Amino acid sequence: MIGSSDTEAILNGLSVAVLVVDPDEAIIFANPAAEQFFQSSISSLTKSALPDLVLPDNPLLSLISKARVQDSVIREFGFRLSTPRLGTRSVTVDCAPLGGNPGYLVLSFQEHASAGRLGGTLQHRDSARSLRGMAAMLAHEVKNPLSGVRGAAQLLEQSVPVEDRQLTRLIIEESDRICNLVDQMDAFTENPRFERGDVNIHEVLDRAVDIAKRGFGRGITFLQEYDPSLPPVFGNRDHLIQVFLNLVKNACEACAGKEGEIFISTSFRHGIRLAVQASKSRLDLPIMVTIQDNGPGIPEDLQMHIFDPFVSTKIEGTGLGLALVAKLTDDHGGIIDLESDHDGTTFRILLPMLKELQDAS
Ligand SMILES: Nc1ncnc2c1ncn2[C@@H]1O[C@H](COP(=O)(O)OP(=O)(O)O)[C@@H](O)[C@H]1O
Ligand SMILES: [Mg+2]
Repeated sequence: MIGSSDTEAILNGLSVAVLVVDPDEAIIFANPAAEQFFQSSISSLTKSALPDLVLPDNPLLSLISKARVQDSVIREFGFRLSTPRLGTRSVTVDCAPLGGNPGYLVLSFQEHASAGRLGGTLQHRDSARSLRGMAAMLAHEVKNPLSGVRGAAQLLEQSVPVEDRQLTRLIIEESDRICNLVDQMDAFTENPRFERGDVNIHEVLDRAVDIAKRGFGRGITFLQEYDPSLPPVFGNRDHLIQVFLNLVKNACEACAGKEGEIFISTSFRHGIRLAVQASKSRLDLPIMVTIQDNGPGIPEDLQMHIFDPFVSTKIEGTGLGLALVAKLTDDHGGIIDLESDHDGTTFRILLPMLKELQDAS
């Protein structure tokens, strides 16, 4: 049996750097991982105050005062932590009040390179960005010449002998097919400054489930558990329907052929924030939607590339579904998290809520 005296041993075993600060920001505890992380011994860490360790105007200090005021856990992904000693590092920071000790906080730091799941979480942003450029290139370099090829084949069709017409037909049909594919990719070139407003995410999810039940999701059991007090998402309804429809479709396809079950839930999460690149602002992402299936899971080596375009294991697959999900989620400033093993797959999407409500909270 593990007793309370083992707590310190447990903390010492963690690979995540943990510090505890008192209400005056003095560091009163540091674990060995913190020693490594800050490249400073535990005894010197516990003799210093946090502002000595990080630069005095460090946003970490405002983050922890926010955690104190809210008296709740704040997690920030993609936080750029600058210290005079270590330079700047990109980390995930958790600030959690120490229960029963007002003003005391437990801080934990995890560097992105080792933040397993987070690696996957932010990877979708890069996928989305590289895809945008490629889609624009395809529209110009493929579609335009292709319409020339198609037009030439149409002209030829009139002058070639009847028995050769099937060749010109073939050129026309194949050109149309490629054009269609490029059109599908057009969705990726859209300006991210699309129209946004308050969207009832439950209505969006119901819509996706409804479409699924009538077609590709026949015979699959859908379980929905919604948080009725959830505020509206700050987003674009059509784009969000596309996001969840794609995720539900993949989930249905994954559990086809067995007793498929898809569990969709929503919840409100305090304190999950994402640092907005190249700016000091932070985006709160309190609305969490989870889509879980009991399919065979996604092989680990595939998980790394799952949001890249044209990655598909299906005979008829385009591999564009998750790439589009990544792009549209990124446009919303949201993030996707993925967890999968052979019992099933869970996608979690974090989205921002309506701005006015954000400012009020
Ligand atoms: N819920 C899931 N369960 C298992 N595998 C999945 C799931 N979602 C996505 N995948 C895998 O990711 C690949 C890419 O998905 P996607 O981008 O939607 O393309 P497509 O559905 O056209 O194959 C799929 O081919 C499948 O191998
Ligand atoms: Mg798909």
